[in-house]
Amino acid sequence: MASVPLLIRIENATWRDLGELRNLESECFGQDAWPLLDLISVLTLPGIIRMKAVTAEGLMAGFIAGECHAGEKIGWITTIGVLRAYRSQRVGTRLLEECEQRMKLPRVRLCVRRDNLPALKLYDEAGYQRVNIWRAYYQDGQDAIVLEKVFRIEH
Ligand SMILES: CC(C)(COP(=O)(O)OP(=O)(O)OC[C@H]1O[C@@H](n2cnc3c(N)ncnc32)[C@H](O)[C@@H]1OP(=O)(O)O)[C@@H](O)C(=O)NCCC(=O)NCCS
Repeated sequence: MASVPLLIRIENATWRDLGELRNLESECFGQDAWPLLDLISVLTLPGIIRMKAVTAEGLMAGFIAGECHAGEKIGWITTIGVLRAYRSQRVGTRLLEECEQRMKLPRVRLCVRRDNLPALKLYDEAGYQRVNIWRAYYQDGQDAIVLEKVFRIEH
């Protein structure tokens, strides 16, 4: 039987999403989850693109944030997460594409744990390439791999 396509819309997130974002962060990142203050900041500070993937029932299935460093012409994806129940259905890919589009910068970067294979696969398929390694960046000593995607034209 063919699977039913997931009905997801991508919307701007606001401070009203704090509760759902806390749950999502905790499920997605465990010991690396951002503290409450960082979550409030990502939902409120200027210069940040923040978007959520919303199910037909109005629930947050995924979240992404991007910081625009317009002076350096670089955007940084600072977080992306999708609840387990909605993974491998292109929700992460859609969030990433929307955020890239919205940043309108010629280069977009992000960092990822060296052992995060699903995320590395997602970024590889999205066209990101390794530009740096930050040794022992994460709390448990794991390295971060810095990836970059270059856009030929300002989009
Ligand atoms: C990484 C993450 C955001 C991917 O979200 P997603 O909605 O599942 O991603 P997509 O469905 O768009 O997947 C894109 C591609 O990534 C790969 N991928 C996704 N999940 C995968 C898995 N569990 N194992 C291997 N590859 C996987 C696949 O190649 C997939 O393409 P395909 O579905 O055509 O095969 C999600 O796994 C997540 O939230 N993980 C925990 C938080 C996290 O690690 N965030 C990234 C921090 S840098």
